Amino acid sequence: MILLRRRRVRESRVSRQARCGRKKTALITGASSGIGKATALYLAGLGYRVIGTSRSIGRLDALMSECEGNGRKFIPLELDVNSNDAVSRVLPDVVREHGPIDALVNNAGYGLWGPVETLTIDELKQQFETNFFAAVRMIQALVPDMVERRAGIVINISSVLGRLGTPFNGAYVASKFALEGISESLRTELSPFGVRVALVEPGLFRTEFQSNMVRGANAESPDISYAPYIEKYNRRHDRFQRFGGDPIKVARLIHKIIESDNPPFRNPIGMDARMGILGTRLLPENIYWPLMTKATLR
Ligand SMILES: NC(=O)c1ccc[n+]([C@@H]2O[C@H](COP(=O)([O-])OP(=O)(O)OC[C@H]3O[C@@H](n4cnc5c(N)ncnc54)[C@H](OP(=O)(O)O)[C@@H]3O)[C@@H](O)[C@H]2O)c1
Repeated sequence: MILLRRRRVRESRVSRQARCGRKKTALITGASSGIGKATALYLAGLGYRVIGTSRSIGRLDALMSECEGNGRKFIPLELDVNSNDAVSRVLPDVVREHGPIDALVNNAGYGLWGPVETLTIDELKQQFETNFFAAVRMIQALVPDMVERRAGIVINISSVLGRLGTPFNGAYVASKFALEGISESLRTELSPFGVRVALVEPGLFRTEFQSNMVRGANAESPDISYAPYIEKYNRRHDRFQRFGGDPIKVARLIHKIIESDNPPFRNPIGMDARMGILGTRLLPENIYWPLMTKATLR
C-alpha cells in the first residue's frame, strides 16, 4: 500500500515549473530550523524561489548564508504568523514584490506538553494560536489569489499525532486534529478551482522540536498523581528519541507533493508514523487502546 502510494506521487509528478516557464515560489512558515529549514534549503537547491518566515530575522541568518554561498534564491521574511496585523500588512507586499505564491507550506509549530487537567486555558489557546489559527490565517491571506489563478497548493504540516492521541500531548494532538479537520474541508472547497491541499504527517524527526517544547506551568510538579506515569513515559520517550529521522526526508516528500498534479491528501512519513496510523486503522479500539496504554505508561 505504501509502495503504491509512493509510486502514485512519482507517476503523477509533472513539472508544472517546466510547463509555465517560471520559477515556482514557495512560502514556508517556521523556516528557521528543523523541517522548515531543511525544506527551504532543499527547494532553493532545486531552483525554487523560497520565502521563509521566522519571528526573528536573525534566526534566518544561517539559512541565508548557506543559500548565498550556493547561489540559491532564499528570501527571509520576519513574520509573526500569530499576528493578524503582521500577516495582513506584510503578505500583500511580499506578493507584489515576488509574484504569486505557488506553494504555501504551513510548518510553524510547537508542542505543549502536560497532562490535560494541568494545562491552563491560556496555554491551550496559545497552542491553537500557532498550530491551528496561524495556518488558517496564512491560508486566508494567500488562497484567494490561488483561487483566482486556478493554481497552487497548500501543504499543512500536521503530525502522526494528528491521527492518534498519546498521553501528555493532548493539547498538541488536539491542535493537529483540528488542522487535519479543516484541511479536509478546505481540500473539497478548493477542488473546483484546481487548488490542491495536502497534509504531511511526520513521526519523530531530529529537529529543535523537543528542545522548543513548552511544558505546561503546572505539568511537572512532583506532587501530581501523574508523576510516576510521566516518569515512565519520559523514560520510554528518551529511548525512542535516537530513532528520529533526518528532516531532509520530509523536505523531499514536500517537494514531491508540490510537483504532483494529484497528490495523496494524507502523507505519513517515518516508519513510526506509518505503523502507528496503520494500527489505528486495522486494529479494533478494544485492542488498540490497551496496546497504546501499555506502550506509553506501563
Ligand atoms: N520534529 C518532529 O518530530 C515533528 C513530528 C511531527 C510533526 N512535526 C511538525 O513539524 C513542524 C516543524 O517542526 P520542527 O520539528 O521542524 O520543529 P523546530 O525545529 O522547533 O522548528 C519549528 C519552527 O516553527 C516556528 N515556531 C515555533 N514555535 C512558534 C511559535 N510559537 N510561533 C510561531 N512560530 C513558531 C519556529 O520559527 P521561529 O521560532 O524562528 O519563529 C521554527 O522555525 C511543526 O508544525 C511540528 O508540529 C514535527
